[in-house]
Amino acid sequence: MQEILDKVKHFNIEASSGEATFSAPSNIALIKYWGKFENQIPANPSISFSLENSVSETSLEYRPKEDDGNISIGFLFEGKRNEQFQSRIVKYFESISGILPMLGKHHINISSSNSFPHSSGIASSASSMSALAMNLVHMFNLLSNQLLDHKTSLKLASYLARLGSGSASRSVYGGFTVWGKSEFFENSSDLYAVQVNPEEIHPIFQDLHDDILIVEKGMKKVSSSAGHSLMNGHPFAKTRFDLARQRMGELKNILRSGDLQAFGKIVENEALMLHSMMMTSNPSYILLKPNTLAAIEAIWRYRASEKVPLFFTLDAGANVHLIYPSSFQTKVQNFIDNNLVVYCENAVYLCDRLGHGPEKLK
Ligand code: DP6
Repeated sequence: MQEILDKVKHFNIEASSGEATFSAPSNIALIKYWGKFENQIPANPSISFSLENSVSETSLEYRPKEDDGNISIGFLFEGKRNEQFQSRIVKYFESISGILPMLGKHHINISSSNSFPHSSGIASSASSMSALAMNLVHMFNLLSNQLLDHKTSLKLASYLARLGSGSASRSVYGGFTVWGKSEFFENSSDLYAVQVNPEEIHPIFQDLHDDILIVEKGMKKVSSSAGHSLMNGHPFAKTRFDLARQRMGELKNILRSGDLQAFGKIVENEALMLHSMMMTSNPSYILLKPNTLAAIEAIWRYRASEKVPLFFTLDAGANVHLIYPSSFQTKVQNFIDNNLVVYCENAVYLCDRLGHGPEKLK
């Protein structure tokens, strides 16, 4: 990675004008990233799959400015100015301008929107930071006359996305993605994510669905920086990180063999462990709501009686992600409509599925 960063850093960019638009997906983690060290280094490796419908669309339009090294941007979120996001991006650009000196030579207008409702509880940092990173690498490639090949470009985009938000590093690829050094995944790294070879994934997992029960709209998630720092000095931290490392190997074998029951066991336990880490930290957080638990119990009852491989996972919030293979779509939709919508705020749930990754739109 250092070689790529040096090459990029030292390339003498001549400022110019241009624009592009990328979409990038949100992702759902199966082995969770929870706990990090300085410089966005994860405490344990994680694995997720990218979604198809929950995406951010981000446009970048840039023009030369005096090269004083300062960051100068305009930012619109869903067509409106947003000071909070804007200052976050200014800070982010300042933190990466050592890698991308072009940032100090251009005024950059950014416009971003999400395909999913703002207060739906889907974390937008993964999709938005990855869409932004894809744009930045594209901009660099245009200005450097295509210095980086496709594979290297994605590696750099994942590296840059990670510096914006850890889980965003996994959103520059479609399918299953691993972030964090794992002995079980060749070429895996703490610095960027890698895509799991689709040939290593059993067909049953190639078209997973993720329907999201919106248990609490606009809910308060624990902020990610506060959340990850809860693992510093957590009494169970070592056990948690060791277990996550070990599970990477177990899940790798499961994804290859197509063992749905073993898949569900790990995925559900990861979700509950994430929340048990929050509940037993200092201070502690309880983000699960009574309806989250009611939905989980209903899923367990349904699975036992109907023999449908329907499993849940959770993010750092109250919403429930329903994970199942495509062949059970009709059955699961009926189950949601008849038994689970009662646990959703305003009966809202979103339907998503494993997706193919970022796309250049313009
Ligand atoms: C619970 O990626 O949002 O969704 O690196 O501080 O931006 P930062 O954290 P973030 O954390 C995501 C945590 C999680 C689990 C996961 O996606 O692996």
